Amino acid sequence: MHARVLPHYESMSAAAAAIVAGKIHEKPDAVLLLPTGTTPLGMYRRLVRLHDEGGLSFARATFFNLDEYLGLPPDHPASYRVYMRENFYDHIDADPGQVHVPDGSAPDPEAECERYEVAIREAGGADLCVLGIGRNGHIGFNEPGAPFDSRTRVVRLSESTRLVNAADFEENRAPEKAITVGMATVFEAREILLLASGANKANAVAAAIEGEVSEDVPASMLRRHPNVTFLLDHESAAAMELGDE
Ligand code: F6R
Repeated sequence: MHARVLPHYESMSAAAAAIVAGKIHEKPDAVLLLPTGTTPLGMYRRLVRLHDEGGLSFARATFFNLDEYLGLPPDHPASYRVYMRENFYDHIDADPGQVHVPDGSAPDPEAECERYEVAIREAGGADLCVLGIGRNGHIGFNEPGAPFDSRTRVVRLSESTRLVNAADFEENRAPEKAITVGMATVFEAREILLLASGANKANAVAAAIEGEVSEDVPASMLRRHPNVTFLLDHESAAAMELGDE
């Protein structure tokens, strides 16, 4: 495990974008497993800039998203499909046939989970999985207690996650359920990068990096992965005993 502490959100985002861009340079047909949320916005902005100004091409890459709310129409402004289009996919040269987001409006969500898991497997698994971290230590929507051997499935969101995400919804109520790739699916990625920013992540980060490895803190399980980097800004690293980079 590697933990790098960068001074600010912007430097953390730049380091994250450099790692993703490096993967695409090394393997233009890489398979990426990607997060939504506030944390990766700076990384996506930089990747779009590298595409626009630096000629970075994603044309041969394959993209999977980690999760999606259940029961939202695909064009709902708070859906992760819309988020990804607006913040990333519409601004790069991704092949639309190689862009995958779980379908939260699928009539048979269980079948959709199975389809999604098979699609990731058939693509060869993820070369690089980028993650954020919830204040409760969740990764994707694998909430505390998520089994280590879990696969893509329908999950019930914790009340704390729904509260944090409520602001994205007009009615101020987040959906109760989501589709998320599983812990095992994440773990099979050949490389994992977890991004964290801000003081409200400090406890989750400390628990993940310095606490017990336990399903109660899903991100702590990443420490068993042979190729994982935690990219942290100073504030999110504040509760750790470990020194700076
Ligand atoms: C979103 C996801 C979540 C977020 C986490 C942090 O696709 O997988 O695990 O990464 O909830 O969200 P932010 O970055 O908004 O604090």
